[in-house]
Amino acid sequence: MMLNSKHRSWEIFDRIAPRYDMLNRILSGGMDILWRKRVIKFLPLGRKLQVLDLATGTADLVIELCKLDRVVAVKGLDLSKEMLNFGNEKLNAHPNGSKAYLEVGDAGSIQYDNDLFDVVTMAFGIRNTPDPSQVLSEIYRVLKPDGKVIILEFSLPKNRLIRFFYLLYFRHVLPILAGILSGDHEAYVYLNQSVEAFPYGDAFCDLICQAGFSKVRQTRLTFGVATIYDASK
Ligand SMILES: C[S@@+](CC[C@H](N)C(=O)[O-])C[C@H]1O[C@@H](n2cnc3c(N)ncnc32)[C@H](O)[C@@H]1O
Repeated sequence: MMLNSKHRSWEIFDRIAPRYDMLNRILSGGMDILWRKRVIKFLPLGRKLQVLDLATGTADLVIELCKLDRVVAVKGLDLSKEMLNFGNEKLNAHPNGSKAYLEVGDAGSIQYDNDLFDVVTMAFGIRNTPDPSQVLSEIYRVLKPDGKVIILEFSLPKNRLIRFFYLLYFRHVLPILAGILSGDHEAYVYLNQSVEAFPYGDAFCDLICQAGFSKVRQTRLTFGVATIYDASK
């Protein structure tokens, strides 16, 4: 496959699935766990929630969602069967895992009816899809009229000095380290390029607005290395 093509990016994840969790922990210094826990803080309070998690991968965010009493059911969709296999193993071992159901599905063409979910989440997934605007339209369609979208994605620090050192790590150290640990250097070169090419911050907020959402907000995490976007239907 062409590694610069987002049209079949899940094939990369099929390849790296056995080492995906381990690599996330090492390459982010464990920050990815904290960032997903922050996503949970953006969920609406005071009512029962049916949640859809797109590009769910190995179900790390699904597991965080299942821990909450007010989350009654979680559907997780991903195009990589291998990532879902690892996700299902983790859910089977988790006491609240039975609230969740994972299935193969495309975030750009969601197989569910309109107005079904209270919340749609997506962590580190939307930059890997060929058409983020199409994904946002699909999220809007499947959300209930008062539903909420919460998206976690990589971004770049605003501060020039921090950005300089971060890009040094990100462009030169991370692909080599990830290549050695995963045995798949090419995959991590693609993943890095996908982060730098993604319209983050205000540009991504504009895309969310264009999909019809209101109350669009962005919250930068860890010097802006990642950002949570949330908005209402
Ligand atoms: C970086 S992983 C993120 C996984 C998980 N959300 C997490 O927080 O670790 C990106 C995931 O997006 C999936 N993906 C890529 N394109 C997709 C699409 N069009 N629809 C659904 N999933 C997709 C990949 O298979 C991969 O599992």
